[in-house]
Amino acid sequence: MAYSDKVIDHYEHPRNVGRMDDNADNVGTGMVGAPACGDVMRLQIQVNDQGIIEDAKFKTYGCGSAIASSSLLTEWVKGKSIDEAEQIKNTAIAEELALPPVKIHCSVLAEDAIKAAVRNIREKRGVKAEESAAS
Ligand code: FES
Ligand code: FES
Repeated sequence: MAYSDKVIDHYEHPRNVGRMDDNADNVGTGMVGAPACGDVMRLQIQVNDQGIIEDAKFKTYGCGSAIASSSLLTEWVKGKSIDEAEQIKNTAIAEELALPPVKIHCSVLAEDAIKAAVRNIREKRGVKAEESAAS
């Protein structure tokens, strides 16, 4: 299969690979797997009090398209609000990377990962708000 230049670029020079502290109040973690192939992606976002994503990191155990999708996504979400970030569609990622049909699920993995990371930070903040309301 021929990969697009953008896939190869992100695969060879992945942006924002790394890990943040899962337990930090300002970090949301999304860990998702692709049923189609068993690949796994961890995407983490660092979110300020205004709900803006200041930093993002990923680690993907998977194919080139999954790595490229998560690398691209970390670039896209920086500076966005969590509300905006969860609107990002896998189709936009697939289009940007010119993914062929059999690799579309790799971009779905990235969409699932950002949604899970946003959910995680919301849960953390929801829990915190309840805790302070109770005390
Ligand atoms: Fe081979 Fe995903 S199917 S790495
Ligand atoms: Fe399964 Fe890419 S994530 S082949």
